[in-house]
Amino acid sequence: MSITVVVGAQWGDEGKGKLIDVFAGHADTIVRFQGGSNAGHTLVVQGKKTVLHLVPSGILHQDKTCVITSSVVIDIFGLLSELKKLKEAGINVTSNQLLISDRATVLLPYHKSLDQARELSLTSDDSKEKIGTTGKGIGPAYEDRAARTALIMSDLFDSDTLLAKLEHGLKEKNFLLKNLYHQPEINVSELHQQILSVIDLLKPFRHADTSLYLDQKRKEGKKILFEGAQGTLLDINHGTYPFVTSSSTLAGSGSISAGLGPQHFTKIIGVFKAYCTRVGNGPFPTELNNEIGAQLQAEGHEFGSTTGRVRRCGWLDLVALKYAIRLNGINSLAIMKLDVLSCLDEIEVCTAYKIGNEIIHEFPTDTESLKKVEPILEKFAGWKTDITKVISPIDLPKKALDYIHFIQKALDCPIDVISVGPDREQTLWVKPLYKD
Ligand code: GDP
Ligand code: IMO
Ligand code: MG
Repeated sequence: MSITVVVGAQWGDEGKGKLIDVFAGHADTIVRFQGGSNAGHTLVVQGKKTVLHLVPSGILHQDKTCVITSSVVIDIFGLLSELKKLKEAGINVTSNQLLISDRATVLLPYHKSLDQARELSLTSDDSKEKIGTTGKGIGPAYEDRAARTALIMSDLFDSDTLLAKLEHGLKEKNFLLKNLYHQPEINVSELHQQILSVIDLLKPFRHADTSLYLDQKRKEGKKILFEGAQGTLLDINHGTYPFVTSSSTLAGSGSISAGLGPQHFTKIIGVFKAYCTRVGNGPFPTELNNEIGAQLQAEGHEFGSTTGRVRRCGWLDLVALKYAIRLNGINSLAIMKLDVLSCLDEIEVCTAYKIGNEIIHEFPTDTESLKKVEPILEKFAGWKTDITKVISPIDLPKKALDYIHFIQKALDCPIDVISVGPDREQTLWVKPLYKD
């Protein structure tokens, strides 16, 4: 049985959460494999909204198992408050429903303090260097992992190991907080006690070897669905560096994080919005700093699900999408928020970039060049019809279908799912895809 991976093909917030929730109805196991609570994945079921940060987006299907694998950074206090909120909303997550790898990295409050202090420490002179992170401690936690000083989940369950590791790790952090960022130092024994006080709440979700678990499920022929967070262009290696996140967001990293061979990952679904958004700083070739951008922002309710920040909006960028298809090996696409474009008289799509007098068709690997490109745009007539109640692709207005067919042809990749509203039900299957 092959494994399916769903990845964001733009700068995040493409609608991955919604799609995973829809697909999860047909899967057995849902896996979060990178990032942390910088993610904000929104699910809407019969008008009821749930926003998830660390908990995989299969959680509303209470008969499925959700797994968090080794490359995720786990804000343990954030996770517990997310689980508490879910419980208050009537979703009591049991130990059968959520398994967390012993190898995953622990993210603690001081990682957030460092993340926020670092961004705040940049003055207006160097504000262009500000990444505009979510402030969730993602960078500092991954730095610890790479420096081999991080706590991992298995360390939490032995009080002495925990204390020793905290003492070791905090020496350097306290120096930075005090001397560089002029922030209060962290008290090691207080933090130790704070962690011990929640250990019994975390224990039920501990699962030593999630690789073994997933491999067994795979051999049993169970359907495993991987949920990407962030987006391709925020990838640490291939994104618009340094304006990226600190993890590998690409489909291939699912294999590494889960500890499952890459040959099993054969269905790679790229999710993209019918236009484009970005939250945080960094180049955005098709950005619309005008009324149309504001209209897309308002109509699409483009506010960050994690930070509430306004998302920058622009036209769909086919150069960037083609790059995402290549990096991930995407063999199926899902177009989201098509309904948002119904407000426009005319829609534009970027088909190439111009840099000086040169026309380029590939996404530049150097961010300085990307900052300079101008989009070459093709115009389409808008359909100006409400499509949020359409239940089959053939009932979409011809102009909307023309738009989809153009994208599909230009990308040479099938669009198999069309989303026309935030609700689970507002999903049109062009091809059964994940249903069989
Ligand atoms: P994710 O991070 O990729 O899961 O995406 P977010 O949840 O951060 O942002 C997507 C937003 O668009 C959420 O508010 C969703 O409820 C909403 N959404 C998803 N699909 C559609 C759609 O087809 N139409 C509309 N209007 N909203 C959608
Ligand atoms: P989901 O999973 C959109 C952006 C931040 C910032 C950069 C680095 O909901 O699509 P970080 O806190 O990761 O160090 O911030 O990445 N970013 C996201 N943008 N969606 C996300 O997640 C994001 N997670 C991080 O805005 O520009
Ligand atoms: Mg999001």
